[in-house]
Amino acid sequence: MRVVVAGSSGLIGTALVAHLRGAGHEVLRLVRRGSAAPDERGWDPPAGTIEDGAFDGVDAVVNLNGAGIGNRPWSGARKQLIRDSRNVPTDVLATAVARHGVPVLVSGSAVGYYGDTGDHVVDESAPSGSGFLADVCRDWEAATAPAADAGVRVVLVRTGQVLSPSGGLLARLRPLFKGFLGGRIGPGTQYLPWVSLDDHVAALQFAVETGSLSGPVNVTGPVPVTNAEFTRELGQAVGRPTPFPVPAPVVTAVLGEMGRELLLSGQRAVPTALLDNGFEFRHHTVADALSAAIGT
Ligand SMILES: NC(=O)c1ccc[n+]([C@@H]2O[C@H](COP(=O)([O-])OP(=O)(O)OC[C@H]3O[C@@H](n4cnc5c(N)ncnc54)[C@H](OP(=O)(O)O)[C@@H]3O)[C@@H](O)[C@H]2O)c1
Repeated sequence: MRVVVAGSSGLIGTALVAHLRGAGHEVLRLVRRGSAAPDERGWDPPAGTIEDGAFDGVDAVVNLNGAGIGNRPWSGARKQLIRDSRNVPTDVLATAVARHGVPVLVSGSAVGYYGDTGDHVVDESAPSGSGFLADVCRDWEAATAPAADAGVRVVLVRTGQVLSPSGGLLARLRPLFKGFLGGRIGPGTQYLPWVSLDDHVAALQFAVETGSLSGPVNVTGPVPVTNAEFTRELGQAVGRPTPFPVPAPVVTAVLGEMGRELLLSGQRAVPTALLDNGFEFRHHTVADALSAAIGT
């Protein structure tokens, strides 16, 4: 298949491009500048433009754009960027996919859609929750409407924390844990939805190829864990004790709303749609995923 990937320079996009090519697909990368290589096509999301011919003969588009959610404090301007860098590219892609008759759009979202679920298990049928991230995810998903309205098969990948040593949560926590500074955050009873990078890109490929899959799809490991369980497993993976819990008031004092939503809240999300459609996880438990990522 010929697959266009937007957001291909990121943690997931880089791995996805390599994975799809390894599986025999032709991959074109959308770049937010003029194209400079044979496999690149230029686009400018704020201007609403995509290089002519970029979608000719394309079988699927994968949309992974978005400014980082957990790497800068949530000022008003940052929150606006988090929204705009998702809604605008998604709308531009969904409109172009519809116009050019591309049959499949696989579009990013996150399990933050569900808000804080406590210990309530959530599959794709669960309603959206409250909070900034839930608002962001609802709007991000809604921006795919031009494609869905045109009959395109749209898959909304509600992603958990992708575990990789190269970026995201694990790249930030690993040095702290190695330095004997690891510990559960707040009560530790909040769920921490996770998925290995290998399984995430395999799930994206599965979404591209599987005609029975459409609508929201949780991309999270099959066995959810709490923050305390994750902390214990990461401590074991790096061979360190985890003696220092971070009290919730410290998290909120230092990180404010971002800390409340990203660290003290969580989703006990399960990947029902993937499992029902026959997807097979390589990493079933967080211990498997951490050991694959860290190499223990
Ligand atoms: N990693 C996770 O744990 C995780 C969890 C849940 C959801 N997600 C979502 O999955 C998607 C990919 O995640 P990732 O970890 O690969 O993220 P990433 O490494 O931060 O990459 C995101 C990509 O988005 C593009 N981008 C960055 N700033 C942008 C802006 N201001 N406007 C438009 N595009 C911008 C860039 O691609 P180009 O320069 O190539 O355009 C960048 O490489 C994101 O939407 C993210 O929110 C990730």
